[in-house]
Amino acid sequence: MVIVAAGSGSRLGAPVPKAYVKVGGKTLLQRAIEPVLALAEPVEIVVVASREWSDDADAICRSISPNWDDIMVVEGAADRHESVGNGLAALSESVKYVLVHDAARPFAPVSLFASVAAEVRRTGEGVVPGLAVTDTIKRVDAGRAVETIDRSQLAAMQTPQGFPLHKLRDAYNASPQSMTDDAAVYAAAGHPVHIIDGDPLAFKITTPADLDRAESIVGPTHAVQATRTGIGIDVHAFDSAQPLWLGGVLWPGEPGLAGHSDGDAVAHAICDALLSAAGLGDIGGRFGTDAPRFEAARGEVFLRETLALVTDAGLRILNVSVQVIGNRPKLAPRRAEVEAVLSAVLGAPVSVSATTSDGLGFTGRGEGIAAIATALLAT
Ligand code: CTP
Ligand code: MG
Repeated sequence: MVIVAAGSGSRLGAPVPKAYVKVGGKTLLQRAIEPVLALAEPVEIVVVASREWSDDADAICRSISPNWDDIMVVEGAADRHESVGNGLAALSESVKYVLVHDAARPFAPVSLFASVAAEVRRTGEGVVPGLAVTDTIKRVDAGRAVETIDRSQLAAMQTPQGFPLHKLRDAYNASPQSMTDDAAVYAAAGHPVHIIDGDPLAFKITTPADLDRAESIVGPTHAVQATRTGIGIDVHAFDSAQPLWLGGVLWPGEPGLAGHSDGDAVAHAICDALLSAAGLGDIGGRFGTDAPRFEAARGEVFLRETLALVTDAGLRILNVSVQVIGNRPKLAPRRAEVEAVLSAVLGAPVSVSATTSDGLGFTGRGEGIAAIATALLAT
């Protein structure tokens, strides 16, 4: 099995080469290899990767294969044709049949690999999965339709494509020009290529729209399984002898909040929401808020320490939302500033809102402030 992953993915335009783009938390390369490991028969796997990304390819292979020795990573080249050639050269002489597959087709099912392999063995010739073309196809020239092509004679080629190894190697060695699929190289050497039914799931990710389609295939399950939500509430009484620190910023001229630390109810509620989402308890239990090292400590100190705990637990903050309940200070004029400060500390979007309690309760009487926060984490 040769899996080519050395392309740059220029049409996708992602910040990393296509094979290392993730869908539902897994790279395309990992998804392309996984069905091969599920095949009944033992398979020698060669992954073709660009030199700059070969360490990443190694790490992916090692993480998914219980028997890492089965997978070899070899260097790719400037075009797919040459990359495949490098992959074929690396296979052992004892290998009789080879399947060549694009890492850019992450959902090709095990059944497709098995059917192609079985058909190669049966025919002793090239086998390619193809899908009937459903759109009307026209030949165009400079933006003008020139002619309609009979689509009943057309099929869209997919991978994996299977061949007797030695015939395909010879065909590659003899090939006078670069071609975009292996069947074309094989046919150019005069060998027959059989077409079997392809699978819509074996589509290739080429453009951002293809990536959206891929996300929609794995997206919902992934989102449900991989997030955790949490809630936190904090209350502090006003103490006009103190400066007011709220939401990580100083509010000159406003009465402060009482507490062993700086009384920043917004920061503390966020810490509790994060700890609760992570299943790590609460701020009192984690930090002992009465501990000497937290005397007069800024809310930011608790936020940073909480972030470290959450990160150490292998979790990532997706977003935080916090609401302040109280008569003062007026949040609106500085809301953007508070959001920016908190978002920067946590490295994730924090939204801040405020309300009064319509004159009711301790917040309505102006005795103190309450803050309620929620947090969403990704596992
Ligand atoms: N491929 C390769 N070596 C190359 C070019 C392509 O191994 N020099 C691989 C790609 O990694 C991909 C498969 O061939 O798995 C199909 O190619 P394509 O979809 O064209 O991928 P890219 O060349 O990476 O994308 P683009 O053409 O948009 O740059
Ligand atoms: Mg390409």
